[in-house]
Amino acid sequence: MNKLRVAVIGCGRISNVYREAFHELSDEIQVVGAADKVLERAEKFASEFPGCKPVETLEELLAEKPDVVHVMTPHFLHHDHVVASLRAGCHVLTEKPVAITTEDAADMIAEAKKSGRLFGVISQNRYLDGIQKAKELIRSGAFGKITGAWSSLNWHRPPSYYECDWKGSWAKEGGGVVIDQAIHSIDLVRYLVGQPVRRVIGHIDRRILTQIEVEDVADAMIQFEDGVVYSFYACNYYTHNAPIRVEVEGENGRMLLVGDTVTLTLNGKEEVIRPAVSSSGQFGYWGNCHQQQIQSFYHSVREGTPIDVTPEDATETLRVVLSIYQSSRENREIDPREV
Ligand SMILES: NC(=O)c1ccc[n+]([C@@H]2O[C@H](COP(=O)([O-])OP(=O)(O)OC[C@H]3O[C@@H](n4cnc5c(N)ncnc54)[C@H](O)[C@@H]3O)[C@@H](O)[C@H]2O)c1
Repeated sequence: MNKLRVAVIGCGRISNVYREAFHELSDEIQVVGAADKVLERAEKFASEFPGCKPVETLEELLAEKPDVVHVMTPHFLHHDHVVASLRAGCHVLTEKPVAITTEDAADMIAEAKKSGRLFGVISQNRYLDGIQKAKELIRSGAFGKITGAWSSLNWHRPPSYYECDWKGSWAKEGGGVVIDQAIHSIDLVRYLVGQPVRRVIGHIDRRILTQIEVEDVADAMIQFEDGVVYSFYACNYYTHNAPIRVEVEGENGRMLLVGDTVTLTLNGKEEVIRPAVSSSGQFGYWGNCHQQQIQSFYHSVREGTPIDVTPEDATETLRVVLSIYQSSRENREIDPREV
């Protein structure tokens, strides 16, 4: 099989995860380029892959004619980097969030359609074994009607985390704990419940990390089309990164995710599903399933099959995030179709 030519832009914190995944997938890919405006970061990334060219800009990266570009730059740059890569004829898998506005997301989707290339958005926790099993049980009707959901994130982001040129800024990060950290819990609940969100009443605040512009805490009532209520909480000022908790309850069963372990209770019987390799938290992110999503994306590129996490789907998650912000700002209920 011809190896896919793969390139990355943004060699910061999350790039460690891609580095590991690329080594695992070395039979099917050749890493041809790594770009970062801080050239040393690109050089460090590239040094692990023979023939990989370290560069500073996207233009130089695209000159290497990659088949696939992975975008791992600050949130506000996702739009420009994705659009330019699609225009250059590349397939693109970007980090979450798809963008920081729905206008940008719509523009990226339109560009993907025009280019005929695949465009996906990372949401690695959907690939956890326990989540896949829960989704299957819900899809098959075994859980019965979904009756409720909640999620709670209590993480630790020290002031030093925000000492860079984009974190903590509305214009560049697009928000705080909701758009950056808790977007994963919102996405998981949306994925499992499988219905459009129709009402959001949210409140955000900045209570401890007062040196940043964006929120360090948020709560919300998120209601799906059929009336199911999802209760949401997130903060970035706990003592440590406690395991995320997500629960979805149905008439016949319940799924409880704690970190990356899922407990499924169905008709009174309990099953605990742990991932084969637990995420170490070494790189300060949640879930160890990037490799699965990246591999699945490559499969779609090769076989022309649909991708799992489409930008339209990722935009629905973004709409819920932005609805929490708008609801808090305007002190009213928001229908995500408004944002
Ligand atoms: N899926 C997850 O669980 C997860 C976890 C962490 C981060 N992320 C996402 O990964 C992305 C990057 O986050 P991070 O924590 O690695 O940030 P980071 O700040 O550590 O890295 C971003 C990198 O992009 C580079 N960069 C900035 N502007 C550039 C430009 N114009 N051209 C080339 N390079 C440029 C910076 O120099 C930096 O090295 C974000 O979208 C973030 O939300 C996802």
